[in-house]
Amino acid sequence: MEDEEGPEYGKPDFVLLDQVTMEDFMRNLQLRFEKGRIYTYIGEVLVSVNPYQELPLYGPEAIARYQGRELYERPPHLYAVANAAYKAMKHRSRDTCIVISGESGAGKTEASKHIMQYIAAVTNPSQRAEVERVKDVLLKSTCVLEAFGNARTNRNHNSSRFGKYMDINFDFKGDPIGGHIHSYLLEKSRVLKQHVGERNFHAFYQLLRGSEDKQLHELHLERNPAVYNFTHQGAGLNMTVHSALDSDEQSHQAVTEAMRVIGFSPEEVESVHRILAAILHLGNIEFVETEEGGLQKEGLAVAEEALVDHVAELTATPRDLVLRSLLARTVASGGRELIEKGHTAAEASYARDACAKGVPIPQAVYQRLFEWVVNRINSVMEPRGRDPRRDGKDTVIGVLDIYGFEVFPVNSFEQFCINYCNEKLQQLFIQLILKQEQEEYEREGITWQSVEYFNNATIVDLVERPHRGILAVLDEACSSAGTITDRIFLQTLDMHHRHHLHYTSRQLCPTDKTMEFGRDFRIKHYAGDVTYSVEGFIDKNRDFLFQDFKRLLYNSTDPTLRAMWPDGQQDITEVTKRPLTAGTLFKNSMVALVENLASKEPFYVRCIKPNEDKVAGKLDENHCRHQVAYLGLLENVRVRRAGFASRQPYSRFLLRYKMTCEYTWPNHLLGSDKAAVSALLEQHGLQGDVAFGHSKLFIRSPRTLVTLEQSRARLIPIIVLLLQKAWRGTLARWRCRRLRAIYTIMRWFRRHKVRAHLAELQRRFQAARQPPLYGRDLVWPLPPAVLQPFQDTCHALFCRWRARQLVKNIPPSDMPQIKAKVAAMGALQGLRQDWGCRRAWARDYLSSATDNPTASSLFAQRLKTLQDKDGFGAVLFSSHVRKVNRFHKIRNRALLLTDQHLYKLDPDRQYRVMRAVPLEAVTGLSVTSGGDQLVVLHARGQDDLVVCLHRSRPPLDNRVGELVGVLAAHCQGEGRTLEVRVSDCIPLSHRGVRRLISVEPRPEQPEPDFRCARGSFTLLWPSR
Ligand SMILES: Nc1ncnc2c1ncn2[C@@H]1O[C@H](COP(=O)(O)OP(=O)(O)OP(=O)(O)O)[C@@H](O)[C@H]1O
Ligand SMILES: [Mg+2]
Repeated sequence: MEDEEGPEYGKPDFVLLDQVTMEDFMRNLQLRFEKGRIYTYIGEVLVSVNPYQELPLYGPEAIARYQGRELYERPPHLYAVANAAYKAMKHRSRDTCIVISGESGAGKTEASKHIMQYIAAVTNPSQRAEVERVKDVLLKSTCVLEAFGNARTNRNHNSSRFGKYMDINFDFKGDPIGGHIHSYLLEKSRVLKQHVGERNFHAFYQLLRGSEDKQLHELHLERNPAVYNFTHQGAGLNMTVHSALDSDEQSHQAVTEAMRVIGFSPEEVESVHRILAAILHLGNIEFVETEEGGLQKEGLAVAEEALVDHVAELTATPRDLVLRSLLARTVASGGRELIEKGHTAAEASYARDACAKGVPIPQAVYQRLFEWVVNRINSVMEPRGRDPRRDGKDTVIGVLDIYGFEVFPVNSFEQFCINYCNEKLQQLFIQLILKQEQEEYEREGITWQSVEYFNNATIVDLVERPHRGILAVLDEACSSAGTITDRIFLQTLDMHHRHHLHYTSRQLCPTDKTMEFGRDFRIKHYAGDVTYSVEGFIDKNRDFLFQDFKRLLYNSTDPTLRAMWPDGQQDITEVTKRPLTAGTLFKNSMVALVENLASKEPFYVRCIKPNEDKVAGKLDENHCRHQVAYLGLLENVRVRRAGFASRQPYSRFLLRYKMTCEYTWPNHLLGSDKAAVSALLEQHGLQGDVAFGHSKLFIRSPRTLVTLEQSRARLIPIIVLLLQKAWRGTLARWRCRRLRAIYTIMRWFRRHKVRAHLAELQRRFQAARQPPLYGRDLVWPLPPAVLQPFQDTCHALFCRWRARQLVKNIPPSDMPQIKAKVAAMGALQGLRQDWGCRRAWARDYLSSATDNPTASSLFAQRLKTLQDKDGFGAVLFSSHVRKVNRFHKIRNRALLLTDQHLYKLDPDRQYRVMRAVPLEAVTGLSVTSGGDQLVVLHARGQDDLVVCLHRSRPPLDNRVGELVGVLAAHCQGEGRTLEVRVSDCIPLSHRGVRRLISVEPRPEQPEPDFRCARGSFTLLWPSR
């Protein structure tokens, strides 16, 4: 702040004055005012001087400079106070309030607008629609309330003629979610009469000057305000001097637009305009005395009946009832009997003077209108759909902008109430700032020099004390039967308060000629002496309105107007009970207000009006000195200087700052919180700026707090990281534990699956030992994936075992045959479907008498000869064949296969050997996939031998497989491989010439035979 607040601007905080005297105070105030520094602190209290000119102190940029800052970081400003209240609300969940006080024209309303603008600007960064709506209503409500509640007075061109306290509700994020406006004591007498140089409420002039011609015509109005009694006085005066909305015309547009934004329906706005017009017409009604009969027979009539027509039309009520309620009234008399009577002579004269003295009707209508507008705004600002259990507690910032202390040449009941209100607020200020503070120092045992200040409790007591207080006496006077005059009321006051230091009257002090006998009394307010005239006190306090008029408006067909008069619903006989008086109602509302404020953390803005002329750059010393004195600002500075900026219970202090010191973080081990706080402050070197109370720490200068806050702010990110680390660790550990659990479950599940599978295997294969199938048809259960290799191995083992079981039972004599079959199966590889596996393989068919009945003995002889000659060990195979050679010659031959040779024999010549090929030269053979008996034998260095086995018994017996099997088994035994080819088109080689042979099934063919055509052979096979 130093660079922006050099010594040439004086002291930004009155607490920093070298001496606390009125002169020093005023000098500093004057110096700062001249330099355009209209704001100065007293601790956290802001003193504001109305500059009466636009200063470049406001707007978004300025707001940004104050947002989130500490009070002392920037030059004093309303924004800083708004920010402090907002921070206390948001960070500490405290309800706060900003009390703006000062006399009329000191700038309270302007200050409250700046505060609202600040709050609107810094909230709702996420642009939530509902919050934006609430902010819109909050901001726009000011404009509407000013139109209906503000008026030009001699002191202020835009003077608030009502007190306003606005609560703004915030959610846990610190965004405004609603609000509520309380209004206090509207100065309704202004509707009827205004002082010279003053105006009625802005709304009337705005309606007349801003409406279109057509609308004015509909309302039966003329544009000129001078035409109407109620606006005649202020007709020549403008609205405000400094406001941007200078003209009534523009304001009318702005207010209508604001009403629309807030949510007033077009019908409601029209109703409001009609009611305003009706009030203007009512003001012009004049009463004349008559002699004739009818209603007028009692002696009273309306001069211009057209006005009554207008009023009836605008209020949507029957004309004759309007007239009757203006001229007569209904009273309850005795039991239930209702008598309608005209106003008596006395009442009539009261009514007649009323235009001067206060016919209650127009002002009552206006007051109801104003209250309805406030309630209507409240209804749209009410926080919606809030559930404290779900949304957390709302926090509240209250802004109080209430009329300042007023002294006029003639002061009446209204000034009395307003000044009483200021006494109450001063009491609150004393309670919170002066008294409580000093009492707390004493309680906490802090060495302290008491500061003298004037306690106005006695004045408050004078006004509101039960039974004898001024308000109580006034109520008493109002309730008494008979004609208690204001004068008797004054006498009673004199009697009760003869010895009161702050009360006097001409009766009690006959030498004082400034007061009138029998009319005036004077109160020595904390802000100065005010002389009140008792005239009208009783009437104004009674605030009486005839029930028939209420009922008339309640029965209006305009729903808006009807809603303003709910009490018109009551029956006349019910309302004889006396209602609370205006004074008591006001007192009650003040007590509630002060209670409400006292429950919140207060922030004060003390406004000072620099001069009576409403001009810029002029600071009237005497005028200001008076305000400084009665606002108690000097005492405030004294208490503040002697006192401490902040105090906190040790535990709360530690909770907030313990991270800034190694002895206190995360928890201290010292004897007490006090000792821990002391250690913490010593580490920071701040022990000189504090005092230790019994339970609280007192911090003298805000700078100490700022230092602590800064060091805390530096550490917060680290702590956040620490918390994040710990939390992430916890999360990871949770996840890990879950994973482990998952794996355990998976493991156990797999184990279970394996066990279940093995058990199932065991169960199924129990029967596997049973011959003759040895579990051939058993179905293997589907294994879990992990057991697939195991199952494959088991399967192989099982097959071997089963084979073993089967083989074990085969007699040794069958073994060669089995081996041959196995060899055939291996060699054919399943390519030939039928290979005679199921037959018994006899091998040497030519020696068999059944197969070769005619020549078996011949063959036996030949075999004997061959054995003698070649010495073979065994006959592998023998059969008759049909043969074709390379010359296409087709012959019957016999094939003999021994373990030494392959012989081609001639069956027709005693099986003479035609050719003998050593068996090791036979490299392979080819067969077809069908059932034919074609065999092609391949031998090294020899032509391929093409034969078809035949002449078998039974005919066409399938023996190709047998030939393949025995030859293959023999070759296996010799350790060489035999090449077996299965093909339906077999290639041949005859002396290097390549040929093909295929099989052609022929059902009509009696015997298999070959056919040769174009270099290729075909076996014609008698297929059946
Ligand atoms: N900060 C400011 N900057 C410029 N002008 C200001 C400022 N504050 C007040 N004013 C001027 O002073 C006038 C009176 O201020 P304001 O209406 O706020 O007074 P008030 O304290 O509310 O008075 P009342 O008690 O009569 O309502 C404003 O209309 C405006 O012209
Ligand atoms: Mg105001």
